[in-house]
Amino acid sequence: MSLFASDKNLALELVRGTEAAVMASGRWFGRGSKNDVDRAAVEAMRYMLNSVSMKGTVVIGEGEKDEAPMLFNGEELGLGDGPEVDIAVDPIDGTRLMACGLGGAISVVAAADRNSMFSPQDLFYLDKIVTGPEAADFIDIEAPVHVNLRRVAKAKNKDVEDVTVVMLDRPRNDAIREEVCKLGARIRLIPDGDVSGALTTCWTDATADLLLGSGGSPEAVITACAVKCLGGNMQCRPYFRNEEDEEKAKARGLTRHSVLELEDLVKGDNVFFAATGASDGDMLRGVRYKGKHIHTSSICMRGKSGTVRHISAVHSPKKLSELGSAIDYSPKH
Ligand code: FBP
Repeated sequence: MSLFASDKNLALELVRGTEAAVMASGRWFGRGSKNDVDRAAVEAMRYMLNSVSMKGTVVIGEGEKDEAPMLFNGEELGLGDGPEVDIAVDPIDGTRLMACGLGGAISVVAAADRNSMFSPQDLFYLDKIVTGPEAADFIDIEAPVHVNLRRVAKAKNKDVEDVTVVMLDRPRNDAIREEVCKLGARIRLIPDGDVSGALTTCWTDATADLLLGSGGSPEAVITACAVKCLGGNMQCRPYFRNEEDEEKAKARGLTRHSVLELEDLVKGDNVFFAATGASDGDMLRGVRYKGKHIHTSSICMRGKSGTVRHISAVHSPKKLSELGSAIDYSPKH
């Protein structure tokens, strides 16, 4: 049997989970309720992922930080008859964006061999640096901002002033932002959603060159899976909000200076990633409701083969419910 015949591309099945999540949660777009957005996405994703042939264990369940509805860590997913995998999910990355009717929210799920994903546990935030394939060998999270910017500019054959840095708009990232400003580079500040922010640096049609600054640790692991598939690079370092964070990390042997390389965030290349646009963003269109049909736009990627698929889908909620689907895609009043 050829390698490909025996190799299942799990991403092609996982994408049904992200599609379902945005179709269900999109009904709450702009209606001010983060919890409804999250709950609808979580329930739909859980339902769909439980129909996939895999023995999945949720390693990154997200939600603990803000006590939102979530797929919880340790939860078993799938039919239990396929490959044994770690699962990382963020049913909606950018829940606040969705609740406020803003663009840039996506639904994401990643899978990789069992025990291959970094488990953040109590570590809420990580400092991150991410870039695409062209500058992959030139970033160093321990080096000053100006060094990274110059190296990335050189690798991409542009001037520092032409480099675009994407970062979360947070006071904790202000110092980096000032340094970038002094160098004359461009900055794309994002209110939320650093998974898709990071992906815009690795994309063939990249709208940014480098992601800098700290963001959620669960999102870092999910991002790492996508970066592996896209051939970019990523490094992280613990970011502590206070002494308690620092003490907890110390007990695990992690300090402010511990560098997590891409391989530490997710081991190997048997990595799968799927994402669907929840609201309109740089890479993916948000979910659209058109009478009897719902339109979604997704990407599916696989680390081993490096194949990246763009999937535009048209769904018929009526037929899905006739088939026995328990997910509620109807309008909410
Ligand atoms: P959720 O929508 O999944 O809660 O995450 C949004 C997000 O902006 C992530 O993309 C980012 O990594 C994290 O929150 C940053 O955390 P905080 O808002 O606490 O700075």
